[in-house]
Amino acid sequence: MKEDGAYAYSKKHGERKMESEPVTEHKICKTGIEELDLKLDGGIPIGNAVLMVGSSGSGKTTLSMQFLADGAKRGERGVFFTITEPLFKLTKNMENFDFYDKKLIESGMVNIIDLRIISDRLGLDTEKYTVEDASALLDVLKDIADELNVKRLVIDSITALCYRLQSKEMIRNFIFKLGASLASMDCTTILTSEVPPNEIRYSQYGIEEFIADGIICLGDVDRRGDIIRTLQIIKMRGTAHSRTKDAMSISSKNGIELAPLLKSGG
Ligand SMILES: Nc1ncnc2c1ncn2[C@@H]1O[C@H](COP(=O)(O)OP(=O)(O)OP(=O)(O)O)[C@@H](O)[C@H]1O
Ligand SMILES: [Mg+2]
Repeated sequence: MKEDGAYAYSKKHGERKMESEPVTEHKICKTGIEELDLKLDGGIPIGNAVLMVGSSGSGKTTLSMQFLADGAKRGERGVFFTITEPLFKLTKNMENFDFYDKKLIESGMVNIIDLRIISDRLGLDTEKYTVEDASALLDVLKDIADELNVKRLVIDSITALCYRLQSKEMIRNFIFKLGASLASMDCTTILTSEVPPNEIRYSQYGIEEFIADGIICLGDVDRRGDIIRTLQIIKMRGTAHSRTKDAMSISSKNGIELAPLLKSGG
């Protein structure tokens, strides 16, 4: 980090407020996964919308929930909008992980909201949205995030949301409105994106990545018959991140962890 005169002064004297704040730790949103934060040169820049891409079972939901649980432990409230899994199933799966604590939910630090229930309450067809429906849903989403004053937001998944829109044009409009909405909020976002296995693409509709400040890909590699999970940061605006593909593991005790992916033997 560069120390300009004002910052060096304030550090020396302790009490002076800086006129223009330097980029310090508090501009970074830690993911809660130590090795990933290192790869991100500290964490996700606050305010970024990150597309978490992977095929079914690649760990998108687990990583997103670990991100919210970590935020809660740091005093940052989060909201998880689920559209793929019903709430009871999601919490049941998460209870297997040590990072997940019911108290985070009970205390209101992690809020899980089923978007299908919201759609239902709004009187929308939960399977097919019109332009107006999508817009109403976006408004509610923003209201909830504002009201709860969340610092971390997850939509699981953006693919399932777009699936309910009936044309590419509607999806395009929705994605750009969502992007504008997220940009106006003071929080860091993960949008999960489902893609078919072993395909090099970041989204189902080819539009979702346009509003993303960051893209993280979860995948697999075959090492002599062993399928190894991988994680790679494709882009992350505002930080000098690594682009190396790492081996990723999921365990009840530690949730998601990363380790170097050995290049030999493949
Ligand atoms: N307690 C656990 N310990 C180790 N691995 C686990 C545990 N719970 C789940 N997993 C692994 O994580 C995978 C599911 O991860 P997750 O639900 O986060 O994936 P996802 O990308 O969200 O999948 P989907 O696209 O189906 O929603 C499971 O298929 C399993 O292999
Ligand atoms: Mg999932």
